Amino acid sequence: MRRLRAWGTAPIPPVGLLAAATVLIAALTPADGTAAPAPALPAAPAPTLSAPQLPYDTEYPTIPYTAGEPSDPVAALARGLENGEVTLDRAGASAYLTAVLRELDIPVSSQMLVFSKTSLLARLIWPETPRALYFNDRVYIAWTPGTDGLEISAQDPELGPVFYNLEPDGEDGPRIRRQTGLCLQCHDSYSLTGGGVPRHIMGSGPTDENGQLASHELWQVTADTTPIRERWGGWYVTGTHGGQLHMGNVAIGRAGDSITAGGNLTDLSERIDVAPYPGAHSDIVALLVAEHQITVQNLITLVGYRVRTRLHIDQQDGLPPGEMSPRTARLVEGLGESLVRALLFVGTPRFEDPIEGTSTFASDFMAGARRDAQGRSLRDLDLRTRLFRHPLSYLIHSPEYDALPDQARTYVNGRLQSILRGEEGGSDFAHLSADDRDAILSILRETKPEILG
Ligand code: HEC
Repeated sequence: MRRLRAWGTAPIPPVGLLAAATVLIAALTPADGTAAPAPALPAAPAPTLSAPQLPYDTEYPTIPYTAGEPSDPVAALARGLENGEVTLDRAGASAYLTAVLRELDIPVSSQMLVFSKTSLLARLIWPETPRALYFNDRVYIAWTPGTDGLEISAQDPELGPVFYNLEPDGEDGPRIRRQTGLCLQCHDSYSLTGGGVPRHIMGSGPTDENGQLASHELWQVTADTTPIRERWGGWYVTGTHGGQLHMGNVAIGRAGDSITAGGNLTDLSERIDVAPYPGAHSDIVALLVAEHQITVQNLITLVGYRVRTRLHIDQQDGLPPGEMSPRTARLVEGLGESLVRALLFVGTPRFEDPIEGTSTFASDFMAGARRDAQGRSLRDLDLRTRLFRHPLSYLIHSPEYDALPDQARTYVNGRLQSILRGEEGGSDFAHLSADDRDAILSILRETKPEILG
């Protein structure tokens, strides 16, 4: 870990190549926590990689990832703290967490607890002291017991995931600082040939009583298409789900744990002391929604980065603005099709039994939804046979969807129209009944008519 912290001055290897290795290093932190130095969050000044060192800046010249000014709600909060317009009250073991959640309008009910040593503060994360995550549509917050700081990610409409630390100990109180190096060691959709983009992560793998992965090969990044039985290894999960199995709540080797005993847990205090956390749950519905949201946001980031870069090359080749080369058109179609499928929940598992959470997340998530005249919304949860009642992602209402390059958004909107109007069959969209399509069309007409052209 000391090596990682020295990167501010050392030659910088490509981010992508390091990501896999870093997960491994974090996971290999000795179980007794003594041999390796703590991978503590860096004190100010943060080890920031300068512009030419981050591959994004050369691979995606039109996207100013490092130098750009993010326009997400965390950037606004950081400015508010800097100029004294906002102050954060310290409360309890989690220091500024509750105040930050309140400022950013993130419900405590979204709390999800992860005990695998898969992230930066591996040494402090144990089955007894899991890392806590919270989220809304725009921002994710992570707090690890034993720290006063926070790890934060936000979805910027143009830049994609942007990372920050809340540093607690400044002379004038807590400050939020952007991170453009350290976090991207893992938060990059790495590829040996380049082309990675910043990403949000959720993962799952068999995890032992020390929070170590029992097998690195079996750890996987999870998406909303991952079968339920493969999800949440290394996480706590509160909620009921009938006979369906998942991997949550099980720390291999811990007395009383077995894969079948891990399910349908409704009271987390049977397993851990929840007192230090603002919430007492790790709600199954929050986990399901976060996995969907991260899947779609990561895809939107990928489409944005790739398509904007191709359009830039077209312009350099002399094409008039707005026109695409055949190669760019093929890229728009290929990536656009992936986004269409994710937005329509193609390939997501059908629930075998109804699912119910334990916190108020479901109602908090649905509050304030944009509804049609019949009261229907894309945020309506189903939870009987699938996650959402009307399977078109609520993220079509997001700023990142609106910020997609015009050519990509036009392609996706056109495909959504023809699929929803029943102009094409095909088993991929068979999960959308005629009633589903009608309901979604009606909701779109009243809440986002521009999608329908
Ligand atoms: C060693 C790899 C690693 C590093 C380095 C890392 N993370 Fe993560 N992060 C993860 C993993 C893996 C997850 C998924 C949850 C888990 O397993 O803890 C995650 C999840 C998160 C989440 C939840 C939402 C999201 O965007 O994925 C936040 C917020 C987050 N990390 C912030 C940060 C910040 C801020 C930094 C830099 C200070 C950072 N992380 C550095 C591995 C890492």
